[in-house]
Amino acid sequence: MSEPRFDDRIDLNTELTNIQVLAILRRTLAFIWPVRRLFIIKFFLMCGSVIPILVAPWPFKIIIDHVIWGRPIDDAIVPFPPFIQPFVDLLVGFSPMEIMAATVALMAGLVFAFGAGDEGRQGAIAFFAQGEDTATQTENMISAGWSQAGGIWGLLDLLWNIRLVQGVTHLVRYQLFERLMRLPMQTLDDNRIGDSVYRVMYDTPTFQDLCFDITLTPSIAILTALASLYVMQYSYGDLAPQLIWVGLLSLPAVLIITMPLAAPARHASQASRASGAATTDTVEESMSNISAVQSLGNMVQEHRRFEAASQESFRQFRRVKLINVSVSFFVGLVGASMLIYVFFLVSSMIIADQLSPGDFSVLMSLYFTVAVTAGQLGQLWIDFQNNAAAARRVFLFMDLPSEDGQAPLQLSPISEGVRIEEADFTFPDGRKALSAVNFAANVGELIAIVGPTGAGKTTLAYLIPGYYRPTRGRVSIDGKDIADMAADSLRRQVTYVFQEHQLFSETITDNIRFGIPEATAAEVERFAATAGASQFIDQLPQGYSTRLGRGGNTLSVGQKQRLCIARGLARNSPVLILDEPTSSLDVEAEADLLNALQQARRNRLVIVIAHRLSTIRAADRIVFMDAGTVVEEGTHIELMARQDGAYRRFVELQTG
Ligand SMILES: Nc1ncnc2c1ncn2[C@@H]1O[C@H](COP(=O)(O)OP(=O)(O)O)[C@@H](O)[C@H]1O
Ligand SMILES: [Mg+2]
Repeated sequence: MSEPRFDDRIDLNTELTNIQVLAILRRTLAFIWPVRRLFIIKFFLMCGSVIPILVAPWPFKIIIDHVIWGRPIDDAIVPFPPFIQPFVDLLVGFSPMEIMAATVALMAGLVFAFGAGDEGRQGAIAFFAQGEDTATQTENMISAGWSQAGGIWGLLDLLWNIRLVQGVTHLVRYQLFERLMRLPMQTLDDNRIGDSVYRVMYDTPTFQDLCFDITLTPSIAILTALASLYVMQYSYGDLAPQLIWVGLLSLPAVLIITMPLAAPARHASQASRASGAATTDTVEESMSNISAVQSLGNMVQEHRRFEAASQESFRQFRRVKLINVSVSFFVGLVGASMLIYVFFLVSSMIIADQLSPGDFSVLMSLYFTVAVTAGQLGQLWIDFQNNAAAARRVFLFMDLPSEDGQAPLQLSPISEGVRIEEADFTFPDGRKALSAVNFAANVGELIAIVGPTGAGKTTLAYLIPGYYRPTRGRVSIDGKDIADMAADSLRRQVTYVFQEHQLFSETITDNIRFGIPEATAAEVERFAATAGASQFIDQLPQGYSTRLGRGGNTLSVGQKQRLCIARGLARNSPVLILDEPTSSLDVEAEADLLNALQQARRNRLVIVIAHRLSTIRAADRIVFMDAGTVVEEGTHIELMARQDGAYRRFVELQTG
C-alpha cells in the first residue's frame, strides 16, 4: 500500500497563519448577518442565564448567617446587592424558620425558572450518541444546544439555539453544495468525492461554533465575569479590594497562558479533518468500484485500507483531544490557584470576624463563576484554531473559480455552427491532449469524429460545451467566443451524451426527462423509441415507472446507453454531441438510431464520436484524429480515395 493520501490534488497547501485565521473569522461574520435576528434574541436569552448565577449565592448566605447562625436579618456586615435587598427587607421581623421557608421558596422558584446549575454548558442534552472522531462530533454539533441555563429558561434557550445553529449550518452547507455543483469538470476530476462529502457534512457544522465564538461566547463570558466582579465590588469592595483585582487579572492571564497552544491545536485539527476525509474517500472509492473489488478478490485489501484510514482518523482525533485536555489543564490551574487564594483570604477574614460564614459561600460561588468564564475565554482562541481549520476547507471550495463566474454573455439560439481554431489543450498534470486543432461544423450537419483510443476525440468534443477550456486558441459558436458566455446559457443549447452512462436511482421516466423536466409521458416514450429503448422498457414489470438501482446498475450496459441517448435526444438542443453512442448497440438498434440522427440533423448540428464503420459511414463528414490533432477531413469516399491516408489505414485495419 502506498502512503496514506490525506489530501486530494486540489487542497495541498493547508497551512494557516494567525493572520489568515483572523481573516477567516472576519469572513465568518458574514454568515451571521442573515440570521442576525435569531442571534439578537439568543443574546438576550443568554443574558438571562446570568441572572441565577448572580442571585443563587445569596440565599445560601441568608440561610447560613440568619437561620443557622441566627444573626438578625437587618444586621448584616456587608450590604446586600440591590437585586436581593427587596427580598431581604421582606424578611425583617421573620423568625429563623420563616426566613428559611421564604428563602427555600425563592430557591425553588429559581430552579424552576433557570435550573439547578449550569448543566447546559456542556450541551449535554443535545449531544446524543456520538463517536470519537471529528466527523461524528461535528455532525452532532448541528443540533447541539449551547445553553448555560436549565429550567424553563434553559429549555427556551435550547429550542431557540437549535433553530439558530441549524440555520447557520444550513446556510453554509447549501452554499457550499451549490458551489460544488458548479465547479468545472476539470477541477472535479482532481478531487475525490469522499472529500467533498466530508466538507459538506462535517466541515460546515463548525461554522455555527465559529459564529458563537466570535460574538456571543466572549461577550456573555465577559459580561458574566464583570457582573460577578461588580456584585463582589458592591458588597465586598471596601473590605477586600484585592479580591476584585485578582479576578480581573485572571481574564487576560488565561488568554496568555493558552496562546502557545494555538498553533499545535490548529495543526492537529487540520490533520484530523484531512484524515477524516481520507476515510470517507476510502469508503466512496471502494463502494463505487465494488465490482472491481469483488471480482479481483480485493475485499481483504480494501478492508485493510479502510481499517488503516479509520485508525489514522481516530489517532488524529486523539491528538486534537490531547491538546484540548492540555488547554483545560492550564486553564484549570489558573482557576484552582484563584480559588485557593480566595479560600485562604476569606477564611482568615471570617476568623478575624471581618466577614460572616455566609460570605464564604457567596464569595466562593462568585469566584467560581469568574474562574469558569476566564476558562471559557482561554479556551476561545484554541477553539478558533479548530474551527478555522474546518472553515478554511469550506472556503477553499467556495473560492475555486466556478463555471459562470465572469462570463455575462447569454447565447442566443444557435443558428450557424461551432468553430475551433488552433486549439491546444493540456491537462493540469502536464499531459498534452490536443495541439493546434482546427475544427468547424454547421447546423444541418452530421459529423463523425473518428480515431484511435486516446487520440483526443473526447477532449476535443468537451471543448464545445466548455467542459474544458482550451489552453491556447479559440472556440466560438455563431462567431462568438464561448469564453465570454455564461456556462448555463451555453449548456442549455449543447447536449452531451457521455461515453460513461450516468443514471440516477429514479424511475426511467425521470431519468429520460432529467434535462427537460416538463416533457410529457408521450414525448418520453417517443424519444425512448428513437433511442431503441422502448422494447426493453415495455418488458419491465413496471415499465416506465421502474426505479433504477444506483447509477442505473439494474440495467445492462446497452440498455443504459439507450436511456442516456433518449435523455440526450429529449433535450432537443441545437447542438447534440454523442460520445461513442453505438458501441453497445446491436446492428438493428444502431440503424434506427442513425436514422433518427440523420432526421435530427436537419435543424441542428449532430456530432458523433464513433469507431464503428457503419456509424461513421452515415455521417456527412468525417474528422479523423490521431495523437491530439485533426489529421484528415472529408466524406468516407473522399478519404478512402487517398492511397496512404490515415483514415483509409484505420478502416482497412478494422475490416481486415
Ligand atoms: N483528466 C485527465 N488528466 C490527464 N490526462 C487525461 C485526462 N483525461 C484524458 N487524458 C488523456 O488525454 C488523452 C486524450 O484522451 P481522450 O480525449 O479521452 O481520448 P479519446 O476520446 O480519443 O479516446 C489520452 O492520452 C488520455 O490519457
Ligand atoms: Mg473518448
